[in-house]
Amino acid sequence: MIRSVIQGCGSYLPPQLVTNDDLAKKVDTTDEWIQARTGIRERHIAGEGELASGLALEAARKALAQAGIDPTTDLDLIVLATTTPDDTFPATATTLQAALGMTQGSAFDVQAVCSGFIYAMTVADSLLRTGQAQTALVVGAEVFSRILDWEDRGTCVLFGDGAGAVVLKAEEGAGTTSDRGVLATRLHSDGRMREALYVDGGPGRTGTVGHVRMQGKEVFRHAVVNMAKVVEEVVAEAGISLADIDWLVPHQANKRILDSTAKKLGIDPAKVVITVDQHANTSAASVPLALDVAVQDGRIKRGDLVLMEAMGGGFTWGACLVRW
Ligand code: UT7
Repeated sequence: MIRSVIQGCGSYLPPQLVTNDDLAKKVDTTDEWIQARTGIRERHIAGEGELASGLALEAARKALAQAGIDPTTDLDLIVLATTTPDDTFPATATTLQAALGMTQGSAFDVQAVCSGFIYAMTVADSLLRTGQAQTALVVGAEVFSRILDWEDRGTCVLFGDGAGAVVLKAEEGAGTTSDRGVLATRLHSDGRMREALYVDGGPGRTGTVGHVRMQGKEVFRHAVVNMAKVVEEVVAEAGISLADIDWLVPHQANKRILDSTAKKLGIDPAKVVITVDQHANTSAASVPLALDVAVQDGRIKRGDLVLMEAMGGGFTWGACLVRW
C-alpha cells in the first residue's frame, strides 16, 4: 500500500512583528481584550511587495532542504493552499513552481480558507496514492493582512501572515497503522454557512478583493463542534484510539477554541501544539506553521502520531492523521 510520507517541513514568517499594543494605537482595542478573548499576543505582517508566493518560497526551500529533494529534478507536484493569492490567476502554486526552477509535474492552488492545508494534504495524498505523482510539496501561504478591514476591531486583531510547507514522498507501506505517512484524512463543508465568515468582494461580484466579515460567536460555536467531530471520524477511520495521539496540531484561530476542543475530546492540553499567541490566525498557513514549530523544537519525533485539524470560511473543515 502506498503511503505519503513526510520527508521534511519548513515555515517562514515575514519579519515585521506587530504587537497588540501596536494595534491599540490604530483601532479601539487593548492588549488585555485581545489576550483574554483570543490568546493572541503578536502577529507577523507582510511588508509592501511581500506576496504569498514569496512567503511560500522561503518555507518551501526549508522543507525541500530538510527532505533532501531537488525541485528541479525530484519534485512532480505542488499543491498550495491560499486565500490571498498573488493574482486572480495564474495560481500562486505555478508562480512558486517557476521560482523553484521546477519545469516538470504540475502545480495548482486549493481554496478552503483556514482549512486549506488539510484540503491540500488530502489532495496531494490522493494523487500520490494513485500514482499520479511521486513527490509532492504541500504549502499553506497567506498574506491575510491584505484582505482585512483595518478599521474593524472585531476582525483585524485576529489574523497574521506566514507560510508553512511539507514534502510528501510516495513510499510502500504495510497498510497498518504502524506505517509512516498519512494514515487517514477527512474533509467536510457546508456552504449554507457563508454569511458567518466571508469576504465582501471578489473578481466576479465586485471586481475588488474585498474584506473579511465574520460573526465571531457563530464561527466559534461551530468550530468546536465540527473540529471535535472530524477528529473522532478520522481517528475511527484509521482504527486507532484518541489516547494513541501524540500531538494535536490544530488550526490556530483562538486559544479558547483550542482549549474547548481539546477538553471536548478529552485530550491532554500538553499534547496540543499552540502558536496562536505568536502567529495569530494565519488561515491556511496556521497548521503547517504550528507543525514546523513543534518539529524544529523537538517535540514531534519520528514515529509519533500527529493529528492536524482545521475549520474555516465556507464553512469548510477537516482532519489529517499522520505518523511522523
Ligand atoms: O479561522 C476561523 C475563523 N475565525 C474564528 O475561528 C474566530 C471565532 N471567534 C472568535 O474567536 C471570537 O468570537 C472572537 C475573538 C472573534 C470574539 O470573542 P467573543 O467573546 O465572541 O466577543 P464578542 O464578539 O461577543 O464581543 C464582545 C465585545 C463586544 O462589545 P459589546 O457589544 O459587548 O459592548 C465587541 O464590540 O467585545 C467587543 N470587541 C472588542 N473590544 C476590544 C470586539 N472586538 C474587540 C476588540 N477590542 N478588538
